[in-house]
Amino acid sequence: MKISVIGAGYVGLTTATCLAEIGHTVRCADNDETKLNLLRCGQMPFFEPHLEELVLKNCQAGRLRFETTESSVVNAEAIFICVGTPPLENGEADLSAIANVARTIGQRATGDCLVIEKSTVPVQTGQQLKRQLQLYVDKGLRCDLVSNPEFLREGSAIEDFFHPDRIVIGVEREEAARQIEEIYRPLLDRSFHCPVHSDCKEDRKPAWVVTDTNSAELIKHASNSFLAMKISFINMVSDLCDAVGADVSKVALGMGMDPRIGPAFLNPGIGFGGFCFPKDVQAFVRIAEKAGCDFSLLREVENVNKRRIELFVEKVRKELWVVRGRKIAVWGLAFKPNTDDVRFAPSLEIVRSLIREGAEVSAYDPQATEKARAVMPDVRYCANPYEAAQGAEAVVVVTEWEEFRHIDWQRLRRLVERPLIIDGRNALDSKLVARNGFHYVSIGRAAVAAEDVECGDREKIRTENAERAVQDIALEGLTRAL
Ligand code: UGA
Repeated sequence: MKISVIGAGYVGLTTATCLAEIGHTVRCADNDETKLNLLRCGQMPFFEPHLEELVLKNCQAGRLRFETTESSVVNAEAIFICVGTPPLENGEADLSAIANVARTIGQRATGDCLVIEKSTVPVQTGQQLKRQLQLYVDKGLRCDLVSNPEFLREGSAIEDFFHPDRIVIGVEREEAARQIEEIYRPLLDRSFHCPVHSDCKEDRKPAWVVTDTNSAELIKHASNSFLAMKISFINMVSDLCDAVGADVSKVALGMGMDPRIGPAFLNPGIGFGGFCFPKDVQAFVRIAEKAGCDFSLLREVENVNKRRIELFVEKVRKELWVVRGRKIAVWGLAFKPNTDDVRFAPSLEIVRSLIREGAEVSAYDPQATEKARAVMPDVRYCANPYEAAQGAEAVVVVTEWEEFRHIDWQRLRRLVERPLIIDGRNALDSKLVARNGFHYVSIGRAAVAAEDVECGDREKIRTENAERAVQDIALEGLTRAL
């Protein structure tokens, strides 16, 4: 099918590339000419695993092109709207980009087509969009509006596209559902070759959920808000664990075994960030208010999340006593691993807070340094975790990159001024860290005291590190096979 995807951001570029990969002819549009030129030269505007290789592959195959919005909609059979809906001052979503796109479609589109709303929008936006598209209908053409909310996660967006749990479609006409089903046919039949895992054994078909547009729009906001609520809930449980001496990892494990609860999104830490959860929770509260429903539960989810930063900085303060003048290494800047996105990242708030208190911060992130530097130029950015830790009195982990689980602890031990790890994501193996001579502090779990490495068996530590690396590799292989 001839498809136009408008918006070359995280959702748009991933969607365009993956639709091309499953055989469609895709024109991906953006109003940022610089971004389009970079993409035409094969340069990605952000880091997302596997994206670059798939963009290059599909451009070379002639299935993917980058164009202006105006030209991309001409002759398109389906148009995906993937533009941003950033928060306004009052928390509501700014829909001006969506309205502009609808106007362009009305003016420029030349034949019958499906207009598919993928951006996260407040309920009833589809109805507004339909009114905007009237210009189009006035030309005597048929235009069906479909709501098709996106559930991709940054960092695993490509994988999520090829292996979705469900594809949600909100339509007004049966025929529109049938047409969009054709677009997704290779995913529904699992008749494509997964480009991410060549040995992918996954044969579970995604659920195909067809509903009305209002319900589809609500599914997206309600899902993100529910997940955010789960995170704030476990964060509160972790505070309680800290206060009474329980272990939040065990509590989460026991809770997650109940299939009604499930184990996902029960990792406590410094709170949720990124461009989706914070804005979507706010927008959902405003949507409910406007409809006369007081969603105070979600306001508390936000409040709990905001308090995570201060609670974590308090943990650092408690360990260091005085923060002023102390060298602190911060590992991680992105709002989560496998992305370079720092928008609404709690890690940046923590760095700012430590600097305000007079700490000397050295930061390291495998991907997000440049984006962090653009908004926080005064930090000392390092090329690797060891450089950041040189002379540090605390190493603070705020993004759970895999790399931090494979540190040469003995090398690190020699570099730091004081062997103290404060893990804001419960990402590291506490026993391994302590056995290597570090005092280990985490979230909702008792601190683990450093073992005396001078008296301990260094050879044993080395063997243990090597064994762990082998186990990790085997586990990764097993996870992929499953
Ligand atoms: C989220 C949703 O998971 C996607 O389904 C949705 O499509 C996307 O928003 C969107 O609306 O576009 P994303 O923001 O990429 O995806 O990242 P998540 O993996 O959901 O993480 C969000 C935040 O929650 C991160 O800051 C992460 O560190 C935090 N988190 C997540 C926790 O603190 N604990 C957890 O257990 C899980």
